[in-house]
Amino acid sequence: MYISGRPESDVLAELIESQKLFRYQGKEALTYCQRFESQFASHLGSSKTLLVTSGTNALILALEALELEPGDEVLVPSFTFFATIAAITKVQAVPIIVNIDETLTIDIDEAQSAITNRTRAIIAVHMDGLPCHMTKLKELATKNELSLIEDVAQAVGGSFQGQSLGTFGRFGCFSFNVDKIISCGEGGAISMNDSRDLPRILNLHDTCSPFGSTHQDLFKPQDITIGHSMRVSELSGAMMLEQLKKLDLIIQNLRETKTRASQILTELKIPMNKIHCSDGDCGTSIYIKAKTPSELLEVAKMITSEEIHTLPIHHRAAHAFWQWIHVLKNSRFAKPHLNPFSYSERNPQQIYHSIHFTPTLEILTTSLKIRTPYFDKESDRKRWLEVFKSKASLLSSLY
Ligand SMILES: Cc1ncc(COP(=O)(O)O)c(C=O)c1O
Repeated sequence: MYISGRPESDVLAELIESQKLFRYQGKEALTYCQRFESQFASHLGSSKTLLVTSGTNALILALEALELEPGDEVLVPSFTFFATIAAITKVQAVPIIVNIDETLTIDIDEAQSAITNRTRAIIAVHMDGLPCHMTKLKELATKNELSLIEDVAQAVGGSFQGQSLGTFGRFGCFSFNVDKIISCGEGGAISMNDSRDLPRILNLHDTCSPFGSTHQDLFKPQDITIGHSMRVSELSGAMMLEQLKKLDLIIQNLRETKTRASQILTELKIPMNKIHCSDGDCGTSIYIKAKTPSELLEVAKMITSEEIHTLPIHHRAAHAFWQWIHVLKNSRFAKPHLNPFSYSERNPQQIYHSIHFTPTLEILTTSLKIRTPYFDKESDRKRWLEVFKSKASLLSSLY
């Protein structure tokens, strides 16, 4: 979360006093949750969005809605938060991990080669606000009859060639946990790009949806399935409505700083990671490239300071394949019938052998993430850029 203050606290105080914390208050009342959902859908250009309790749950809903068979395969990149992988296994599907390329997003050629007769879906993850190549991924999905889901947990407000991230696939899954660009502490949303998915998603996210008055016209008794309890309260809706008002401002602010920091790096001939669509990048992270892992550590030591926050990959618990392949390899599932490998001929020891992920290892251990700060004042940004420039100048000796 970058900004939160008086507008959020005022609206939350008013809501608590009103005691109207339940998101469904009859057909007439337009609740905070409903207002957020309709404004978020217009902001994205999607047909519908629904608030849920987390980004992980948004992913689980999207995958459940695909009605996969146990043991079906879902392609997912080697660089993501573990939740993306966990969600796949929650529907007893097998995560097929595909290396990333220099853009830190899924390697599309490798994804194509990983497709088998059991592949049903692909999850595009826009890590660190960096857009995947959505035209190519859409083509790949269409050609191979795969469902496309976008994990937009880290990239709300981003776009690819002018279209919002989260609107390319059948579903876009957003997280609003406290580390995200806009947040209500914990929360998430699912965007649907085909309005026919709405009744199913509503039903799955809340066992009560088909029985309440708000959505009565959407459900026929024969369509009702047993869902979860992923419904949020009005507190989340109200907070997110305020946060959404700030989204464009936050993204603009981060992009401005990133553009100017990138110019400094370019002038100093310090390489950065490639980006599929710079205009659509959220700007949350600046990535410096090194030739070797040891050079990268030198870079990190030289540039890190009170003002410049770096995040070498080994500081990011749960974000890269080596943090989670052992969990998959050792089939740590609560019950045997929940283990996707009970329904597959795939051998986890083989498909998750670290040897397959050498390209990812090389890329991540030679890429240094620098967090782009948010600035209220231009004078603070200027000061930060001066420090950034003086620190970056020291790196020239390494390149
Ligand atoms: C890429 C990615 N996917 C999914 C999630 C899961 O979101 P949540 O923490 O809201 O469940 C996160 C959260 O950090 C994430 O970064």
